[in-house]
Amino acid sequence: MSFPTVYLNDEYLPLSEAKISVLDRGFLFGDGVYEVIPAYNRRLFHLPEHLQRLANSLDNIHLAVPYDQRQWQEILTPLLDDTPDQYIYLQITRGAAEKRDHAFPRNVSPTVFAMAAPIKPYPDLQRGVRAITMEDSRWRLCHVKAITLLGNILLRQQAVEQDCAEAILIRQDHITEGAASNVFAVLNGTLTTPPNSNDILPGITRDVILQLARDNQLPASEKPISLRQLQSASEIWLSSSTREILPVVELDGAAVGAGRPGPVWQTLQGLFREYKQSVSS
Ligand code: PDD
Repeated sequence: MSFPTVYLNDEYLPLSEAKISVLDRGFLFGDGVYEVIPAYNRRLFHLPEHLQRLANSLDNIHLAVPYDQRQWQEILTPLLDDTPDQYIYLQITRGAAEKRDHAFPRNVSPTVFAMAAPIKPYPDLQRGVRAITMEDSRWRLCHVKAITLLGNILLRQQAVEQDCAEAILIRQDHITEGAASNVFAVLNGTLTTPPNSNDILPGITRDVILQLARDNQLPASEKPISLRQLQSASEIWLSSSTREILPVVELDGAAVGAGRPGPVWQTLQGLFREYKQSVSS
């Protein structure tokens, strides 16, 4: 069996040989941050935006940014093969201290890990997916892309156990985001998504969708969405780097709009596909 090559602390090596200490604070505490960066035809998609978000995440956990954009590009590009749609998973933890202690250790080098994986077309894209709503039980630093994802995975798992693709999260009667995605709703013809705050991850795909809508004179707005508004939306979508734009056709067992992917999604999906091609050829 051949293992893909991964990057770990200045070295490229087969996945099977990439090892970290059990004292790594990522393992012991979830003390680290990550990025998921798509790459189309070996070109990293919106790399400056992903690196800016990484810098914000690192700043929030008081870690220095180890490399500049050119260095990151040099590190990450060799991980890509000729699969047309891939993503890079990049993780930085505070590193391995000599003993387990909650407070930051001194003089410890961060652990930097990266690997590539294919982005597979979502099987139910044209049919749409089902979602449930759930109380957002996560912490208040959701703008930080932390590897500490227990809250998110417990919520996603409940969705999966109900044969749904995502849990759409509610805080004080308003939508925040999905367990691993941002949320859009078409409300009275306007494409709407909750504004960025500490309660959501500022999604790169979200920003691309908003920009494409504005560039094409489609009404779009960043405004709070109440649960009631979501329930009466004509369309609901999820967005993320690995799922792109996913139409939700059933919410908590009730049909969304006509119960199939709607016309605004069809338009944006086409624009997104064209945009991807234009930046990767
Ligand atoms: N997650 N919100 C959350 C909580 C997420 O985990 C993600 C993506 C997004 C969408 O962000 P972007 O468009 O930049 O991918 C929003 C990635 C894909 C993951 O954890 O695998």
